[in-house]
Amino acid sequence: MSGPSFPTRPRLRPSLVRLSFLFLATLPLALPCLAASRPPVRASNGMAVTPDEQATRAALDVLRAGGNAVDAAVATAFALAVALPHAGNLGGGGLLLYRSAESGVAALDFRETAPAALRPELFLDEDGRAVPERSRRGGLAVGVPGTVAGLAEAHRRWGRLPWAALLAPALRLADEGSVVSPWLAGVFAESGTPLVEDSAARAIFAPSGILPQAGSRIVQRDLAATLRRIAEQGAAGFYRGSTADAIVDSVRAAGGALDAADLARYTPLLRTPLEGTYRGYRVVSFPPPSSGGIGLLQMLGMLERFDLSRSGAGSSMTVHLMAEVERRFHADRARWLGDPAFFAVPQTGLLDPAYLAKRAASILLDRATPSAQVDPGHPPQPQPGETLHFSIADRWGGAVALTTTLNGAFGCGRVAAGTGVLLNNQIDDFALAPGSPNLWGLTGDEANRVAPDKRPLSSMSPTIVELPERGPRPALVLGSPGGSHITTSVLQVLVNVIDHGMGLQEAVDYPRFHHPWLPDAITHETNAFPADVARALEVRGHRLQPARQPLGNVNAIGIDGSGRWTGAADPRREGSAGGY
Ligand code: DON
Repeated sequence: MSGPSFPTRPRLRPSLVRLSFLFLATLPLALPCLAASRPPVRASNGMAVTPDEQATRAALDVLRAGGNAVDAAVATAFALAVALPHAGNLGGGGLLLYRSAESGVAALDFRETAPAALRPELFLDEDGRAVPERSRRGGLAVGVPGTVAGLAEAHRRWGRLPWAALLAPALRLADEGSVVSPWLAGVFAESGTPLVEDSAARAIFAPSGILPQAGSRIVQRDLAATLRRIAEQGAAGFYRGSTADAIVDSVRAAGGALDAADLARYTPLLRTPLEGTYRGYRVVSFPPPSSGGIGLLQMLGMLERFDLSRSGAGSSMTVHLMAEVERRFHADRARWLGDPAFFAVPQTGLLDPAYLAKRAASILLDRATPSAQVDPGHPPQPQPGETLHFSIADRWGGAVALTTTLNGAFGCGRVAAGTGVLLNNQIDDFALAPGSPNLWGLTGDEANRVAPDKRPLSSMSPTIVELPERGPRPALVLGSPGGSHITTSVLQVLVNVIDHGMGLQEAVDYPRFHHPWLPDAITHETNAFPADVARALEVRGHRLQPARQPLGNVNAIGIDGSGRWTGAADPRREGSAGGY
């Protein structure tokens, strides 16, 4: 996989960041004194922090009209499907966490499933080696999309406003054209070539052979027609009839095995969220088939044994400890996590405090523990974002954390002809063969082997953190895209707020790092470590590797001292926060 340079807006003011680090380098402890990239947005009633301004507006319109967080989330997700074709999706899946003031937190899983005809052998060569191309580009890469069924189910359970009204902003964007931001234009330039090769995609995105430029508008008539069918018929407008037929035809024409029965059978699942505590906060996140909730709670459980506020944000001790827990979690992920309907995930054991104490006890304060060498292969660098996360809060204390994904940029790079729907390549999130890294460098084993109807393991980690003594509103609502970087990005924002006392925007802006277990190195954002911190980490035995792109994209909502909402969009992409 190529590692393209990542289009990002320079909101972090690199000179300021460098200056702060120079200053920090002279202090015994690195104190959190970075300026936030922008003032956080504050509001008393509702708040939406999404990856696109057009979608943030849609969310606020719904909240103002009396919709709750779920109504706004449905409108936002559909608007993003139009405005951000590389990732905002109808043809993919997602994980939604909904917290209502009255009935606590619910987890809705609309992850894609493997079509019934998929077998592990389809992705292997004669020597049993994974052929990554097959799970990334052609029709075999496409999992049964879950998003439309998931949004319909969320609305049926919790929504207040009429369904069709929630699709109106998306329809307007599709009919009238959505504006291409400089960031999106960069994604088209970096990853859009397959769209020119697929005739259905070319007709929409590059009719004259040229991919969309910044400032232009994309009109998506087929997608508008698909959205109208969904507005009129609900999920049936996608999973049955002409949309379904077109999806099946396109996937099969591209060598895939999806059929009408796979689509008709797709069901979102309500799951029991995972709960844990961290320094008095109650942390609620997503259970398998996400690895995120278990990962977050494992890592927080290990970190709680160390005084991070004392070692301080950005110090070599803090980075060392966090890299060590990240390494340990990823080792467990590869062995133990997969779709719980197919593999007995030892969930309780993985979160057992005695187990975590034992794992944490193996962390040496002055030495990195070398990761066991299981796989000599070198995983590819992650591609730019194909996953989106947004957070929404309503005036009643309700909150939605929703992460959706097509997996790779533009999914498998194909549009189901006549529908405008870009199809995911989520099958690549299965472990095709033991030790063979997926697009995000993650490896796995039996637990996450492909099987009919099975859901691939995900890193998506929509998370809600509560501290009841601060009032009825949740303390944090957050999540991120970023493949394997998702869970560690969420972890670091959480620790920045709870341990290091940072304001929400500062916590989101703060430079990130990531330990994947294998390869055995800390990947870090440029300027994450001042020279003395880098040296001190190397002295402990850590190998450092600069990331070729920013890590994660956390769109978060928190509360301030007076219980008002605070919204912080991640400056690493073009997200926006809005409130009223
Ligand atoms: O579910 C997962 O873990 C992956 N499909 C997410 C991919 C991703 O975040 C890419 N975006 N940046």
